[in-house]
Amino acid sequence: MARYSAPRGMHDLLPSQAALWRRSEEAFRRVFLSFGYREIRTPVVEHAEVFSKSVGEATDILEKEVYSFRDRGGRLLVLRPEGTASVVRAFIEHLQSEPYPLRLFYLNLPMFRHDRPEAGRYRQFHQSGAEILGSDHPAADAETVILSLSLLQALGIGETEVLLNTLGCPECRPGFVQRLREFYAGKEELLCPDCRRRREQNPLRLLDCKEESCRELSRGAPSTSAFLCSGCREHYGRLRALLRSEGVAFREEPRLVRGLDYYTRTVFEVVHRERGVTLSLAGGGRYDGLAEILGGPPTPACGFALGTERVLSLLPPEKEEPPQVFVALGEGATEERAFAFARKIRARGVRAMAEVSGRSLRAQMRSAHRAQVPATVILREEGAVFRDMESGQQEEGTEEEIARRVVERFGC
Ligand code: HAM
Repeated sequence: MARYSAPRGMHDLLPSQAALWRRSEEAFRRVFLSFGYREIRTPVVEHAEVFSKSVGEATDILEKEVYSFRDRGGRLLVLRPEGTASVVRAFIEHLQSEPYPLRLFYLNLPMFRHDRPEAGRYRQFHQSGAEILGSDHPAADAETVILSLSLLQALGIGETEVLLNTLGCPECRPGFVQRLREFYAGKEELLCPDCRRRREQNPLRLLDCKEESCRELSRGAPSTSAFLCSGCREHYGRLRALLRSEGVAFREEPRLVRGLDYYTRTVFEVVHRERGVTLSLAGGGRYDGLAEILGGPPTPACGFALGTERVLSLLPPEKEEPPQVFVALGEGATEERAFAFARKIRARGVRAMAEVSGRSLRAQMRSAHRAQVPATVILREEGAVFRDMESGQQEEGTEEEIARRVVERFGC
């Protein structure tokens, strides 16, 4: 028989890792709610156009990384590669009448990109993120940066750096893009094959290519700051002032452009550096034109997403919460009684598991030891026994007395 493994770049979340995921979800949910955000969950699958129109046809994500398929009705669908376009689609479909600005968050939603898997880069990964729809004010941008840092701090991750840039708006960006085209003209042979292709359609991406030859070249390229219109300059200045007033350290990074086409003005990343390795934990920015591109009303907006796998890779594994009581069947006891006993104590907040394998009492006790439960209740034909697994001490009593004893020790 063939032995199957999970698809390349996709991972099982095993019980030993689940406790950390649960803790991070709980911490993130608390932080999002404390900032007044409301939760949204969109389908894993969207119509392909939601992404081709928004993320951009000429981006790596759309050109190379998207998982797409036709459904039985012949419609082209994709597994979502990111969350923002889906949230904006849902906003246009359901939430336009809600009071602005609308603050939404999503927690650990699976995303899919058919990229070459390597450390920290997966084909299925998970993002938590937030979007503010309906504000063009730099305070909204500042809030998203602060919120992304608060999430990381809630998990005890403090040694991060915020990289910040502005990409201008439809008024000033074309002038900048034109200057970039001129700068790269005649230098094609110095570019990597991807950048040679991008040069025409998406010259901004040339600035953040990771290939050494392209990086070297981009050091001499013009930067956005010289081309910003007064509105963009003011917006960026106010954002920086707000971040400073909140004590947020950031580094301006004129080469930061990010891999999605929908950004206008602010873009940022939160990175973690350790032993020469830079890990991008979160990324985001402003996307004032996206709602209109997707057929909605003009709605200035901004947000960010944080990659769960990358963030959790910085933390030690969390201790699991094992069951507290094993309900064993002694001579003459039945499964019905074990189920009923376990149900009663669970209702009082005890984590209990009952024997379901029909084994001898000796085998049951061995498995209770292996499961590291602190206590076992052995049901007998009459009454029950409470056994402390560490000390080996036993107490006998009626079922009710033993249930009370268990609840006293473990219940809430
Ligand atoms: P992004 O930078 O593509 O932005 O992804 C955000 C975060 O998701 C990254 O910083 C990283 O932690 C994680 N991530 C991305 N790709 C992978 C991968 N292949 N494997 C593991 N982790 C990954 C967005 O997706 C935008 N939607 C963010 C946003 C929200 N902008 C505005 N609102």
